[in-house]
Amino acid sequence: MSFPAALVDIPTHGDVQGLLGVLESNSSVPFKIKRVYFIYGVPSGTSRGSHGHKKLQQLIVPLSGSFDVVLHDGSVEETFSLESPNKGLLIQPGLWRNLINFSNDAVCLVLASEHYDEIDYIRDFDEFIEWVASR
Ligand code: TYD
Repeated sequence: MSFPAALVDIPTHGDVQGLLGVLESNSSVPFKIKRVYFIYGVPSGTSRGSHGHKKLQQLIVPLSGSFDVVLHDGSVEETFSLESPNKGLLIQPGLWRNLINFSNDAVCLVLASEHYDEIDYIRDFDEFIEWVASR
């Protein structure tokens, strides 16, 4: 099975007036968007995340600046560098994630397939590994 996350192109319209990226439910975003949040002002050297999600799908877009997303599926770890608003990271359910190496100007937009629900989180890595094994 291929790794359940990948960089995807964000449809972008450009002309002499600049660029316009489009994110649309069930189209350029392959799920119904139920929630949008954004992370910014992350102090240098600080990481975010450190949790897994059971059901949640997400599309992460670096609106400004850059950062890395480190994903773990229970056996394999992959790192994705996000640095351009025309490429997002599509994350399937069941992955552990860490967001690291934020530039000072980083703005991380997250589109999510579910409303906020603490029940969907796994906040301990050992528990995440056990959950993957039990699936
Ligand atoms: P958390 O998911 O732990 O952030 P990160 O993964 O970036 O480190 O969320 C941080 C806080 O924000 C926590 O108190 C929960 C709250 N929160 C919401 O209320 N709604 C949301 O949609 C999200 C993502 C977080």
